Amino acid sequence: MNDSKNSAAKIMEMTDTCTTPNYARLPLVFVRGKGSRLYDAGGKAYLDLLSGLGVSALGHCHPALLRAINEQAAELIHTSNLYYHEPGARLAAELVRLSFADRVFFCNSGAEANEAAIKMARRYGCGKHEIIAVHGSFHGRTLAALAATGQPSLQ
Ligand SMILES: Cc1ncc(COP(=O)(O)O)c(C=O)c1O
Repeated sequence: MNDSKNSAAKIMEMTDTCTTPNYARLPLVFVRGKGSRLYDAGGKAYLDLLSGLGVSALGHCHPALLRAINEQAAELIHTSNLYYHEPGARLAAELVRLSFADRVFFCNSGAEANEAAIKMARRYGCGKHEIIAVHGSFHGRTLAALAATGQPSLQ
């Protein structure tokens, strides 16, 4: 491992010391990914069956993906949802075209998506809404999502 970088043990200690203890992490530190594989500092490969909980479903570091990210970042990284931009418009139109929905709601996390779903059920359920969840489920760490999470130990 490069001397200028922290050891796996140091990285785990820094993380455990400086972050709130709400995740049960496995003692693994990944330094890079390629396709469906993750690698630790020793070069050991792991098959990434989680894809970052679905976030990196396109795999790690595919050249086309890097090119697209790089080109967009070099043009415009982020604006708030107070403004319009073409990539957002095109993504929304594509999701509408490919799905059952007439409109999409962009958000940052699964918890936020579930909060929106719960709010829509309340708004459009005309007072007759009922939220059903199953035992052992997980829906996120915000209050409503947690209330619908079927794991008392997390609540
Ligand atoms: C089924 C399910 N719903 C919601 C969430 C919450 O997603 P986020 O962590 O992006 O808020 C998760 C995350 O693990 C999940 O697995």
